[in-house]
Amino acid sequence: MSQTRNEAPARAGANVRKVFIKTYGCQMNVYDSQRMGDALAGDGYEPTDAIEDADLVLLNTCHIREKAAEKIYSELGRIREMKIEREAQGRSLTVGVTGCVAQAEGPEIVERAPVVDLVVGPQAYHRLGGALARVAAGERVVETDLTTQDKFEKLPRQDGRQIAARGVTAFLTVQEGCDKFCTFCVVPYTRGAEVSRPFAAVMEEARRLAAAGVRELTLLGQNVNAWSGEGGGGRRLGLGGLLRELAEIPGIARLRYTTSHPRDMDDDLIAAHRDLAALMPYLHLPVQSGSDAILKAMNRRHKAGDYLRLLDRIREARPDIALSGDFIVGFPGESDADFEATMELVRQVRFAAAYSFKYSPRPGTPGAAMGGHVEEAVKTERLERLQALIREHQLAFQESFVGREQEVLVEKRGRHPGQMIGRSPFLLPVVVPQSAGAIGEIVTVRIEASLPNSLMAEGADHENRVAQPLRKIA
Ligand code: 5AD
Ligand code: SF4
Repeated sequence: MSQTRNEAPARAGANVRKVFIKTYGCQMNVYDSQRMGDALAGDGYEPTDAIEDADLVLLNTCHIREKAAEKIYSELGRIREMKIEREAQGRSLTVGVTGCVAQAEGPEIVERAPVVDLVVGPQAYHRLGGALARVAAGERVVETDLTTQDKFEKLPRQDGRQIAARGVTAFLTVQEGCDKFCTFCVVPYTRGAEVSRPFAAVMEEARRLAAAGVRELTLLGQNVNAWSGEGGGGRRLGLGGLLRELAEIPGIARLRYTTSHPRDMDDDLIAAHRDLAALMPYLHLPVQSGSDAILKAMNRRHKAGDYLRLLDRIREARPDIALSGDFIVGFPGESDADFEATMELVRQVRFAAAYSFKYSPRPGTPGAAMGGHVEEAVKTERLERLQALIREHQLAFQESFVGREQEVLVEKRGRHPGQMIGRSPFLLPVVVPQSAGAIGEIVTVRIEASLPNSLMAEGADHENRVAQPLRKIA
């Protein structure tokens, strides 16, 4: 099947068009990009990792912070040069913007970046094929309707081969949108109101993934723990109930979900952490700030104490659970004392991992119109202090596994011969020796060392040292 590039144009595949999709932002975009790729495969597009080979370039964008959104315009500048060069050679290039910038800035993008042929928002991916046909007919297309229907139902199902090529872990979007309206956040505007995918659709896709060899499922949603649906016999189910059903699917060994809101962690979901061995002991539960005044201004609708009490309940159900969070520093009105309250909360919780950002005012959100914006230099200094503290806890968390056994799901080959990479239940990458097990197996290894961003299992480093000379010869 192997074919050199020089041979390709003469063959039947010459009119196979190629699509390059670049994904920005969160895991929901990663999932959406895969589904768009599947849909385009039905329209005769093959995926490519090389932008130079592409006939269609899609930027699947993120609007969460200003930096993320601005990146798109600089990328479009580079693509414009590519398109000009192409056209000089008589070849065409179609350029599309999808994702949250598409939703938020739709017609503006077409105006600001003439290189763009189509703009398709996250709820309109099932119209991508139609939009491309209109582009081919000479139109510039903007599709940014926010429908409440399940867009995924209208996209073609993923086939087993495509799934298997993506590996033994998979994302599965079960919920989209958000009704919480935190005052800093654009998501309720870009992804629309909270919609849950129907129970039967989720189960069907999960079974399909499992049948193609997927061992670990990560359920995705902007507010995934707000998922609700109707199980067999009209039974109301929350995320806890859905996880119980998914855990029964043969082949599925691990379940995760992200991202959750503290207010939607209900009793049944907490109980699922106690009851389900397949539900991994790792929870991403953003709190954003440790100051009650800031939490109120953010419209988070809980206090720092509520969050800590919730963690106590979760830890009672699953004592070894590792926590991760998101933080924003420099929200309007954040004083030194407010920031210290965040540092204090982090010291109390000791997150296994956490993501922290400088507040970025987003157009149309209430936060952007608030008084008391914090100076950039203050934001920078607070972010550095917070990240140093988080990093300290993260490293201590990793170190705590040295000398202990861990169950690792083997996911892929490592960078060096003789090594494989997998993940621990706590989402830590673990380098294991190839002899430990094949891709898709869950193996028990003893952790020998903690590296900056991963753990090293016994024997992995040794095999690497032995294997190195071979690598040089090759
Ligand atoms: N500025 C900075 N960070 C933000 N986030 C969301 N909106 C903003 C903003 N305007 C962060 C939050 C959220 C994560 C996905 O991104 O911490 O949980
Ligand atoms: Fe944004 Fe808040 Fe909704 Fe999360 S819960 S998506 S931060 S509005």
